[in-house]
Amino acid sequence: MSLKINAKTVVLGTGGTIAGIRKSPGNPDIYESGRLGAADLIDSVSEDYSGLEFQDVAQIDSKNMGLPIWQSLLKALVQAQSRQDVAGVVITHGTDTIEETAYLLHAFGLWPKPVVMTCAMRPADHPMADGPVNLRDALSLLHHAQAQGVCVVFNGQAHHALHVQKISTDPLKAFSSGFASLAAEKINGKWVWQSTPTATAKLDIPSLAGFLGATQWPRVEWLTHHAGSSSEMMEALLNAQSHTRLRGLVIAGTGAGTYKDAWNDSLQKAIEVGVAVWISSRCAWGNALPQAHQTMGQRVDLPPAKACVALALSLLSQDEKKSAL
Ligand code: SIN
Repeated sequence: MSLKINAKTVVLGTGGTIAGIRKSPGNPDIYESGRLGAADLIDSVSEDYSGLEFQDVAQIDSKNMGLPIWQSLLKALVQAQSRQDVAGVVITHGTDTIEETAYLLHAFGLWPKPVVMTCAMRPADHPMADGPVNLRDALSLLHHAQAQGVCVVFNGQAHHALHVQKISTDPLKAFSSGFASLAAEKINGKWVWQSTPTATAKLDIPSLAGFLGATQWPRVEWLTHHAGSSSEMMEALLNAQSHTRLRGLVIAGTGAGTYKDAWNDSLQKAIEVGVAVWISSRCAWGNALPQAHQTMGQRVDLPPAKACVALALSLLSQDEKKSAL
Protein backbone atom coordinates (compact mmCIF):
# COMPACT_ATOMS: atom_id res chain seq x y z
CA MET A 1 0.00 0.00 0.00
CA SER A 2 1.42 3.39 -0.90
CA LEU A 3 0.55 6.34 1.26
CA LYS A 4 2.14 8.89 -1.04
CA ILE A 5 0.99 12.32 -0.01
CA ASN A 6 1.22 15.25 -2.40
CA ALA A 7 0.03 18.30 -0.45
CA LYS A 8 2.62 19.67 1.94
CA THR A 9 2.62 18.63 5.56
CA VAL A 10 4.67 20.45 8.15
CA VAL A 11 6.05 18.17 10.86
CA LEU A 12 6.97 20.06 14.02
CA GLY A 13 9.20 18.13 16.40
CA THR A 14 9.36 18.81 20.12
CA GLY A 15 11.18 15.68 21.39
CA GLY A 16 9.78 12.96 23.65
CA THR A 17 10.30 9.21 23.68
CA ILE A 18 9.30 9.06 20.02
CA ALA A 19 12.63 10.83 19.41
CA GLY A 20 14.41 8.98 22.21
CA ILE A 21 17.53 6.80 22.00
CA ARG A 22 18.54 4.01 24.36
CA LYS A 23 21.41 4.67 26.73
CA SER A 24 22.73 1.13 26.22
CA PRO A 25 21.50 -1.24 23.51
CA GLY A 26 21.07 -4.07 26.02
CA ASN A 27 18.42 -2.23 28.03
CA PRO A 28 15.53 -0.85 25.98
CA ASP A 29 13.86 0.73 29.01
CA ILE A 30 16.61 3.23 29.88
CA TYR A 31 16.76 5.92 27.26
CA GLU A 32 17.00 9.67 26.73
CA SER A 33 14.01 11.50 25.27
CA GLY A 34 14.27 14.00 22.44
CA ARG A 35 17.67 12.97 21.04
CA LEU A 36 16.52 12.82 17.39
CA GLY A 37 15.25 15.64 15.22
CA ALA A 38 11.86 15.39 13.49
CA ALA A 39 13.44 14.58 10.10
CA ASP A 40 15.27 11.61 11.65
CA LEU A 41 11.99 10.05 12.70
CA ILE A 42 10.77 9.75 9.15
CA ASP A 43 13.69 7.48 8.23
CA SER A 44 12.01 4.84 10.27
CA VAL A 45 8.69 5.36 8.49
CA SER A 46 9.08 3.20 5.42
CA GLU A 47 6.49 4.87 3.17
CA ASP A 48 7.47 7.58 0.68
CA TYR A 49 6.21 10.82 2.09
CA SER A 50 7.29 13.46 -0.37
CA GLY A 51 6.12 16.96 0.49
CA LEU A 52 7.01 16.75 4.16
CA GLU A 53 8.75 19.70 5.78
CA PHE A 54 10.42 19.33 9.15
CA GLN A 55 11.06 21.85 11.85
CA ASP A 56 12.55 21.15 15.26
CA VAL A 57 10.82 23.46 17.67
CA ALA A 58 12.53 21.70 20.59
CA GLN A 59 14.15 18.40 21.54
CA ILE A 60 13.04 17.93 25.11
CA ASP A 61 11.56 15.44 27.51
CA SER A 62 8.03 16.77 27.73
CA LYS A 63 8.16 16.97 31.54
CA ASN A 64 10.15 20.17 30.79
CA MET A 65 7.47 21.69 28.56
CA GLY A 66 6.57 25.28 29.41
CA LEU A 67 5.91 28.78 28.13
CA PRO A 68 8.99 29.40 25.91
CA ILE A 69 8.53 26.18 23.92
CA TRP A 70 4.76 26.57 23.77
CA GLN A 71 5.33 30.05 22.34
CA SER A 72 7.76 28.71 19.69
CA LEU A 73 5.35 25.89 18.87
CA LEU A 74 2.38 28.19 18.50
CA LYS A 75 4.38 30.58 16.30
CA ALA A 76 5.46 27.72 14.03
CA LEU A 77 1.91 26.35 13.94
CA VAL A 78 0.36 29.71 13.05
CA GLN A 79 2.90 30.17 10.30
CA ALA A 80 2.32 26.70 8.83
CA GLN A 81 -1.47 27.10 9.04
CA SER A 82 -1.32 30.36 7.10
CA ARG A 83 0.44 28.77 4.11
CA GLN A 84 -1.76 27.87 1.15
CA ASP A 85 0.43 24.94 0.12
CA VAL A 86 0.16 23.25 3.53
CA ALA A 87 -2.61 20.71 4.14
CA GLY A 88 -2.04 20.33 7.84
CA VAL A 89 0.46 20.00 10.65
CA VAL A 90 1.78 16.96 12.53
CA ILE A 91 3.42 17.53 15.91
CA THR A 92 5.62 14.95 17.61
CA HIS A 93 5.68 15.23 21.42
CA GLY A 94 6.46 13.32 24.60
CA THR A 95 3.57 11.31 26.01
CA ASP A 96 3.85 12.70 29.53
CA THR A 97 2.44 16.16 28.90
CA ILE A 98 0.97 15.83 25.41
CA GLU A 99 -2.50 16.35 26.89
CA GLU A 100 -1.51 19.77 28.24
CA THR A 101 -0.03 20.91 24.92
CA ALA A 102 -3.00 19.46 23.01
CA TYR A 103 -5.38 21.39 25.28
CA LEU A 104 -3.39 24.61 24.82
CA LEU A 105 -3.46 24.30 21.01
CA HIS A 106 -7.15 23.42 21.12
CA ALA A 107 -7.85 26.47 23.29
CA PHE A 108 -6.33 28.71 20.59
CA GLY A 109 -8.31 26.92 17.78
CA LEU A 110 -10.35 26.55 15.63
CA TRP A 111 -7.47 25.89 13.28
CA PRO A 112 -8.34 26.04 9.58
CA LYS A 113 -6.33 22.87 8.91
CA PRO A 114 -6.01 19.74 11.03
CA VAL A 115 -3.37 19.48 13.73
CA VAL A 116 -2.44 15.88 14.48
CA MET A 117 -0.15 15.23 17.42
CA THR A 118 1.58 11.93 18.02
CA CYS A 119 3.99 10.30 20.42
CA ALA A 120 5.42 6.95 21.46
CA MET A 121 5.98 4.92 24.59
CA ARG A 122 9.15 3.24 23.31
CA PRO A 123 12.27 5.02 22.06
CA ALA A 124 13.06 5.21 18.36
CA ASP A 125 15.75 2.49 18.50
CA HIS A 126 13.68 0.06 20.61
CA PRO A 127 13.22 -3.33 18.89
CA MET A 128 9.45 -2.84 19.19
CA ALA A 129 9.37 0.93 18.68
CA ASP A 130 5.80 2.24 18.35
CA GLY A 131 6.78 5.69 17.07
CA PRO A 132 7.08 4.79 13.36
CA VAL A 133 3.55 3.34 13.21
CA ASN A 134 2.09 6.22 15.21
CA LEU A 135 3.82 8.76 12.99
CA ARG A 136 2.62 7.03 9.84
CA ASP A 137 -0.90 6.92 11.28
CA ALA A 138 -0.73 10.62 12.16
CA LEU A 139 0.37 11.52 8.64
CA SER A 140 -2.39 9.45 7.06
CA LEU A 141 -5.09 10.78 9.41
CA LEU A 142 -4.14 14.32 8.47
CA HIS A 143 -5.29 13.61 4.92
CA HIS A 144 -8.61 12.06 5.95
CA ALA A 145 -11.46 14.09 4.45
CA GLN A 146 -13.02 14.67 7.88
CA ALA A 147 -9.86 15.43 9.85
CA GLN A 148 -10.19 18.67 11.81
CA GLY A 149 -9.25 20.33 15.06
CA VAL A 150 -6.43 19.11 17.30
CA CYS A 151 -6.15 15.41 17.98
CA VAL A 152 -3.65 12.94 19.40
CA VAL A 153 -2.90 9.73 17.51
CA PHE A 154 -1.69 6.74 19.50
CA ASN A 155 -1.96 3.01 18.90
CA GLY A 156 -4.60 3.11 16.18
CA GLN A 157 -6.82 5.67 17.90
CA ALA A 158 -7.19 9.41 17.48
CA HIS A 159 -8.31 11.32 20.59
CA HIS A 160 -9.74 14.82 20.67
CA ALA A 161 -7.43 17.27 22.45
CA LEU A 162 -10.12 18.17 24.95
CA HIS A 163 -10.58 14.59 26.15
CA VAL A 164 -7.25 12.81 25.81
CA GLN A 165 -5.47 11.80 28.99
CA LYS A 166 -2.44 9.66 29.68
CA ILE A 167 -3.94 7.11 31.99
CA SER A 168 -1.39 4.33 32.14
CA THR A 169 2.29 3.46 31.85
CA ASP A 170 1.37 0.40 29.79
CA PRO A 171 3.03 0.93 26.40
CA LEU A 172 -0.08 0.02 24.42
CA LYS A 173 -2.82 1.44 26.64
CA ALA A 174 -1.28 4.76 27.59
CA PHE A 175 -4.14 7.02 26.44
CA SER A 176 -7.88 7.19 26.81
CA SER A 177 -10.70 9.64 26.16
CA GLY A 178 -12.79 8.18 28.98
CA PHE A 179 -16.51 8.57 28.36
CA ALA A 180 -16.00 10.85 25.35
CA SER A 181 -16.03 9.64 21.74
CA LEU A 182 -12.79 9.10 19.90
CA ALA A 183 -12.05 11.40 16.98
CA ALA A 184 -11.20 8.41 14.78
CA GLU A 185 -10.21 4.77 14.96
CA LYS A 186 -8.26 2.53 12.62
CA ILE A 187 -10.49 -0.31 11.50
CA ASN A 188 -9.09 -2.93 9.12
CA GLY A 189 -6.13 -0.65 8.40
CA LYS A 190 -8.23 2.44 7.53
CA TRP A 191 -9.10 5.49 9.59
CA VAL A 192 -12.81 5.72 10.37
CA TRP A 193 -13.82 9.18 11.56
CA GLN A 194 -16.06 8.96 14.62
CA SER A 195 -16.82 12.42 15.97
CA THR A 196 -16.10 16.10 15.41
CA PRO A 197 -14.26 18.07 18.11
CA THR A 198 -16.39 19.46 20.93
CA ALA A 199 -16.48 23.26 21.00
CA THR A 200 -13.91 24.78 23.35
CA ALA A 201 -15.27 25.35 26.84
CA LYS A 202 -15.85 29.08 27.21
CA LEU A 203 -12.83 29.81 29.33
CA ASP A 204 -10.90 33.02 29.06
CA ILE A 205 -7.73 32.96 27.01
CA PRO A 206 -5.29 35.73 26.05
CA SER A 207 -5.04 36.92 22.46
CA LEU A 208 -2.43 35.12 20.41
CA ALA A 209 -0.25 38.25 20.50
CA GLY A 210 -0.72 38.45 24.27
CA PHE A 211 0.31 34.82 24.67
CA LEU A 212 3.33 35.14 22.39
CA GLY A 213 4.45 38.31 24.19
CA ALA A 214 4.08 36.88 27.71
CA THR A 215 7.32 36.74 29.69
CA GLN A 216 6.16 34.45 32.48
CA TRP A 217 3.74 31.55 32.83
CA PRO A 218 1.52 32.42 35.81
CA ARG A 219 2.40 30.19 38.73
CA VAL A 220 -0.41 27.68 39.21
CA GLU A 221 -0.09 24.74 41.61
CA TRP A 222 -2.16 21.57 41.81
CA LEU A 223 -3.06 19.97 45.14
CA THR A 224 -4.72 16.59 45.42
CA HIS A 225 -7.10 15.94 48.29
CA HIS A 226 -6.94 12.47 49.85
CA ALA A 227 -8.07 10.64 52.94
CA GLY A 228 -5.92 11.80 55.82
CA SER A 229 -4.63 14.93 54.07
CA SER A 230 -4.06 18.01 56.21
CA SER A 231 -4.32 21.67 55.23
CA GLU A 232 -0.63 22.15 55.90
CA MET A 233 0.51 21.82 52.32
CA MET A 234 -1.88 24.59 51.32
CA GLU A 235 -0.81 26.77 54.26
CA ALA A 236 2.84 26.16 53.31
CA LEU A 237 2.11 27.21 49.74
CA LEU A 238 0.37 30.39 50.88
CA ASN A 239 3.00 31.33 53.46
CA ALA A 240 6.10 30.43 51.46
CA GLN A 241 8.44 33.24 50.51
CA SER A 242 9.00 32.74 46.81
CA HIS A 243 10.07 35.08 44.08
CA THR A 244 7.25 33.76 41.90
CA ARG A 245 3.90 34.74 43.37
CA LEU A 246 1.33 31.97 43.60
CA ARG A 247 -1.57 33.05 41.36
CA GLY A 248 -3.69 29.96 40.94
CA LEU A 249 -4.53 26.74 42.72
CA VAL A 250 -6.21 23.72 41.15
CA ILE A 251 -7.69 21.34 43.70
CA ALA A 252 -8.04 17.76 42.51
CA GLY A 253 -10.80 16.85 44.92
CA THR A 254 -11.85 13.37 45.92
CA GLY A 255 -14.80 11.89 43.97
CA ALA A 256 -16.89 14.65 42.47
CA GLY A 257 -14.42 17.28 43.69
CA THR A 258 -14.87 17.00 47.45
CA TYR A 259 -12.45 18.21 50.11
CA LYS A 260 -12.60 18.16 53.89
CA ASP A 261 -14.21 21.02 55.80
CA ALA A 262 -10.84 22.24 57.14
CA TRP A 263 -9.80 23.10 53.59
CA ASN A 264 -12.61 25.68 53.32
CA ASP A 265 -10.70 28.02 55.69
CA SER A 266 -7.39 27.62 53.88
CA LEU A 267 -9.01 28.12 50.50
CA GLN A 268 -10.80 31.21 51.76
CA LYS A 269 -7.41 32.62 52.84
CA ALA A 270 -6.01 31.81 49.41
CA ILE A 271 -8.87 33.62 47.68
CA GLU A 272 -8.54 36.61 50.04
CA VAL A 273 -4.89 37.06 49.03
CA GLY A 274 -5.84 36.97 45.35
CA VAL A 275 -5.17 33.34 44.43
CA ALA A 276 -7.66 31.98 41.88
CA VAL A 277 -8.98 28.60 43.09
CA TRP A 278 -10.45 26.05 40.69
CA ILE A 279 -11.95 22.74 41.75
CA SER A 280 -11.46 19.61 39.62
CA SER A 281 -11.63 15.92 40.48
CA ARG A 282 -8.86 13.42 41.03
CA CYS A 283 -11.06 10.77 39.34
CA ALA A 284 -9.78 9.92 35.88
CA TRP A 285 -13.19 10.61 34.32
CA GLY A 286 -16.14 12.84 35.09
CA ASN A 287 -16.39 16.36 36.42
CA ALA A 288 -16.50 18.05 39.80
CA LEU A 289 -20.09 18.66 40.97
CA PRO A 290 -21.61 21.14 43.45
CA GLN A 291 -21.21 20.00 47.07
CA ALA A 292 -23.03 20.90 50.27
CA HIS A 293 -20.77 22.81 52.71
CA GLN A 294 -18.16 23.49 50.03
CA THR A 295 -18.28 27.14 49.22
CA MET A 296 -14.76 27.95 48.07
CA GLY A 297 -13.41 27.86 44.55
CA GLN A 298 -14.85 27.62 41.08
CA ARG A 299 -15.68 24.20 39.59
CA VAL A 300 -14.10 23.43 36.25
CA ASP A 301 -15.05 20.70 33.80
CA LEU A 302 -11.48 19.68 33.08
CA PRO A 303 -9.11 17.15 34.62
CA PRO A 304 -6.42 18.76 36.80
CA ALA A 305 -3.56 18.80 34.24
CA LYS A 306 -5.70 20.63 31.69
CA ALA A 307 -7.27 22.81 34.39
CA CYS A 308 -3.76 24.05 35.31
CA VAL A 309 -3.17 25.13 31.70
CA ALA A 310 -6.64 26.68 31.42
CA LEU A 311 -6.24 28.61 34.69
CA ALA A 312 -2.82 29.94 33.66
CA LEU A 313 -4.28 31.04 30.31
CA SER A 314 -7.14 32.80 32.05
CA LEU A 315 -4.64 34.61 34.33
CA LEU A 316 -2.64 35.68 31.26
CA SER A 317 -5.86 36.98 29.76
CA GLN A 318 -6.56 39.02 32.92
CA ASP A 319 -3.02 40.45 32.77
CA GLU A 320 -3.55 41.41 29.14
CA LYS A 321 -6.85 43.15 29.90
CA LYS A 322 -5.29 45.04 32.83
CA SER A 323 -2.32 46.23 30.78
CA ALA A 324 -4.73 47.49 28.07
CA LEU A 325 -6.51 49.83 30.54
C1 SIN B 1 8.28 12.56 27.45
O1 SIN B 1 7.11 12.81 27.74
O2 SIN B 1 9.00 13.34 26.82
C2 SIN B 1 8.90 11.29 27.91
C3 SIN B 1 7.94 10.18 27.99
C4 SIN B 1 7.35 9.78 26.67
O3 SIN B 1 7.41 10.44 25.65
O4 SIN B 1 6.75 8.67 26.68
